[in-house]
Amino acid sequence: MKFYVRTYGCQMNVADSNEMGRHFQARGLVQTENPDEASIFLVNTCTVRQHAEDRAMSEIGRLKRWKMKKPGRKVVVTGCAAERTKEYLEGRFPFLDLVVGAKSIESFSDMATGLLERRETDEDLDYAVPAIDEKISAFVTIMRGCNYSCTYCIVPYVRGREIYHSPEQILGEARDRVSEGAREITLLGQTVNSYRHGEYRFADLLQAVAGVDGLERIRFISPHPFYITDRVIETMATVPEVCESLHLPVQSGSNTMLKTMMRNYTREHYVALVEKMRRAMPGMTLSTDIIVGFPGETEEDFQQTLSLIEELQFDWGFIFKYSTREGTPAAKLESFPEELIEERHQRCLELLDRIASEKRSKLVGSVHEVLIEEGNVGRTRTNHRVYVQGDVKQGDSISVVITNAQRATLEGEIHNGNVTFENFRQEDRRSRSTR
Ligand code: 5AD
Ligand code: SF4
Repeated sequence: MKFYVRTYGCQMNVADSNEMGRHFQARGLVQTENPDEASIFLVNTCTVRQHAEDRAMSEIGRLKRWKMKKPGRKVVVTGCAAERTKEYLEGRFPFLDLVVGAKSIESFSDMATGLLERRETDEDLDYAVPAIDEKISAFVTIMRGCNYSCTYCIVPYVRGREIYHSPEQILGEARDRVSEGAREITLLGQTVNSYRHGEYRFADLLQAVAGVDGLERIRFISPHPFYITDRVIETMATVPEVCESLHLPVQSGSNTMLKTMMRNYTREHYVALVEKMRRAMPGMTLSTDIIVGFPGETEEDFQQTLSLIEELQFDWGFIFKYSTREGTPAAKLESFPEELIEERHQRCLELLDRIASEKRSKLVGSVHEVLIEEGNVGRTRTNHRVYVQGDVKQGDSISVVITNAQRATLEGEIHNGNVTFENFRQEDRRSRSTR
């Protein structure tokens, strides 16, 4: 029996999809890339913006025909939109076999058992070793939920408040992924660096995961600026496995907006953090999330966002058009016409893209350690995707000189020189500190 998974939304959803896939695989099911072959179709939904939810809903609607084509087919809907709209979903799409909201994801395994008809011979399949594709880069969820209440955001409602996995569980999962072939682990959480478990803090976790045998690289998403402590910076700078790249959502460059968004930091605090991190990790890359058109955002506020992008020179970023989420505090505020939001979105994108491409062009000629993930494509420690010319294979960790940086995916060639910027930096890494 085969299953097919469609995932919408963020990396947390990708990690959840992988986890649900592992539950199916543990029961002897095989993942397929072709829905025609599948008996189970799982749609893992997102609700962070209306657009994401609409796309999932129309896909679910189309699955009625898919289901009718072969007897015994089952449709499972999970994730954040499932949490937000469970009753609506079940009413509007009565053919659904299972709806599991994001808050119940940890009990997915039990629910999936009920879904699968059990035959006597399936018994031993329960203990079969899951056939998981070797993946170079894997996710490990360290916490779920969010204790913040950013006024635009639906996440705390659909994912609930923070719960933390124990360090033992996290390390166990990291070891499992490495034994399946992973060389890079990305730790995941809604505000990943607010992690705590007893006396254990996020920095301790970074250090512990770095100790996993065979693991070369660690990343984490998405951190919240409030929890980027000096200790986190120092750990990032001194633990060689932690990559010099950070995705740090800022949302706006205007203190007025940051306040109404309830982000719990100011522009000045964010800028100071970035400066501190760049001192500790020269050459690090920085990316961000920005929302344009939040209710009440004046042209002046918007200019502040543009000036922040200019000031901090982000390496890349995601600009989101504000989307009203029912039930959030911001939904009570008057929203802007779509054209205004669209126009700001365009202006913001243009600036961000211009800076990103200027920064990329400076990379031509520099040498980076690239870990090949698939085909000829891999990533630098700074999280640039690179297409490497020549004879390379999955899992290779090679020195690459960048030859072309016109597109987001850089191009490079294998570098045979001895002393490289990257080598220099690795040797130097242990002596760096935040002070
Ligand atoms: N409208 C637009 N963007 C949003 N995000 C979260 N909620 C909304 C919303 N209502 C963005 C934020 C966050 C990213 C994952 O999605 O920028 O960092
Ligand atoms: Fe949403 Fe804010 Fe929590 Fe991020 S920190 S998930 S934006 S409430």
